[in-house]
Amino acid sequence: MPQKVYIETVGCQMNVLDSELVVGALRRHGYALTDTPADADVLLFNTCSVREHAEDKTYSALGRVRHVKRRNPDAVIGVLGCMAQKDQDAVRRRAPFVDLVVGTGQLAEVPALVDKVRATREPQLAVSLGRADAGRHEVEASFVSYDPARDPSMRPTPFQAYVRIQIGCDKFCTYCVVPSTRGPEQSRPPEHIWAEVRQLVDQGCKEVTLLGQTVNSYAYQRGESRTRLSDLIAGMHDTPGLERVKFVTNYPKDMTDDLLDAVRELPKVVKYLHVPVQSGCDEVLRRMKRNYTAAYYVEMLARCRERVPGVAVTSDFIVGFCGETEESYRKTADLVRAARFKNSFIFKYSERPGTKAAGRYPDDVPDEVKKRRNNDLLAIQTENSRLDHRAQVGSTVEVLVEGPSRHGERVAGPVRQLTGRTMTDHIVVFDGSDRLIGQTVRVAVTDASPFTLYGDVEPASRERERPEDATPVAHAPGSPGRFPLPLA
Ligand code: SAH
Ligand code: SF4
Ligand code: F3S
Repeated sequence: MPQKVYIETVGCQMNVLDSELVVGALRRHGYALTDTPADADVLLFNTCSVREHAEDKTYSALGRVRHVKRRNPDAVIGVLGCMAQKDQDAVRRRAPFVDLVVGTGQLAEVPALVDKVRATREPQLAVSLGRADAGRHEVEASFVSYDPARDPSMRPTPFQAYVRIQIGCDKFCTYCVVPSTRGPEQSRPPEHIWAEVRQLVDQGCKEVTLLGQTVNSYAYQRGESRTRLSDLIAGMHDTPGLERVKFVTNYPKDMTDDLLDAVRELPKVVKYLHVPVQSGCDEVLRRMKRNYTAAYYVEMLARCRERVPGVAVTSDFIVGFCGETEESYRKTADLVRAARFKNSFIFKYSERPGTKAAGRYPDDVPDEVKKRRNNDLLAIQTENSRLDHRAQVGSTVEVLVEGPSRHGERVAGPVRQLTGRTMTDHIVVFDGSDRLIGQTVRVAVTDASPFTLYGDVEPASRERERPEDATPVAHAPGSPGRFPLPLA
């Protein structure tokens, strides 16, 4: 019987990718994946520290699996990723039954560390000592020998994959732990990325999402030659079999015209930009150290829409940041109302020990005020999302079919409810047979809710449902299925 590994992932897409890589490495080490903690020999938690809530979720999940060790004293429980890097040995003070604490830069070592716990029953800690320690060697280790070792069964779907193009972050927004959990910003050599994309496409992948904390700051310098994100995308665009290229997350100050021109001109590039503004108040933006004003962002947004007609833009917001007054919140609400984002993720400020904001500014907005502003902003955004989605009714959209919708998962039969995304990242739900999964079909949009389009597959696309034309794609066993993309 092979040893079994169970893994739970919270946090951003970077973590989803890291979990895929860890499982890939463990499989080559002879492990099989299980989705039942009680059956597992190794239980891993890939963690996020961006908000306190994400950490609490991990500690309660750890509490729930603690009993596994009572029945199976050889079981290994591991905490991986951002919380491991941030809290290091403090993880074991709060959860002493944890055997393994592995930071974001050491994930390639997980199989060896598991073996070591097994052999010695001594807890193992592998983390970077600080940002300075997370240097070149780690980048090379995680980029060259690590990223190609992937596990298709862990992907969002068999035909969609994440590709890391950059690690770390150098922006140091005052509220944010990421620069300390992920280390300095470093861009991966373009040739490695192109090779990985080719490899993924050979495995049946149709859509790649390029990942970086500030993905549009991507730049790789070799001698005189500099590869920007626009060049990187152009270099992979014509890969035969590749249908879609996305990239997240963008930093407003680095949204250059060459990138916007590439998004407009290259047909495989999804016309969708996630560019978080965080706040609409200059005073708050200054305390956040975002390096732009609200007016700058509004001008950048207009430039995105002018250079890429029809582009869908989404944002993140933090409400209740230190010193946010009713007046500053009102400015944010005004910005959200006017900006007409396709969608926004809204978070209540969560003070993170060790960040600049925690040291400099008191977390002085009461929780009930944060909650009220959160709900209020959500209501404004939901109305805009409704208008944005309604505007698509009557049009025909190209949909990459991802799989059964949540409703469709419960129904078995020749035709059920499927879901997929358009070239502007809008979610579409429609009826179709499983043979359409993994294909791009044309859907006439007939109805819309704030976050979903509804429609009918065009007859020409339905033709392809005939068995002779289509290869059905099933989720590999153990696949976690589609991931909800909102962060922790
Ligand atoms: N690198 C990306 C994403 C960072 S984390 C970027 O710069 O946009 C994702 C989102 O979490 C951020 O955009 C921000 O809105 C939110 N966030 C980060 N730190 C936070 C904190 N301390 N409290 C609440 N929300 C936070
Ligand atoms: Fe955090 Fe700012 Fe870096 Fe985004 S850009 S990861 S919010 S420090
Ligand atoms: Fe991602 Fe959370 Fe780390 S958002 S980078 S997993 S702190």
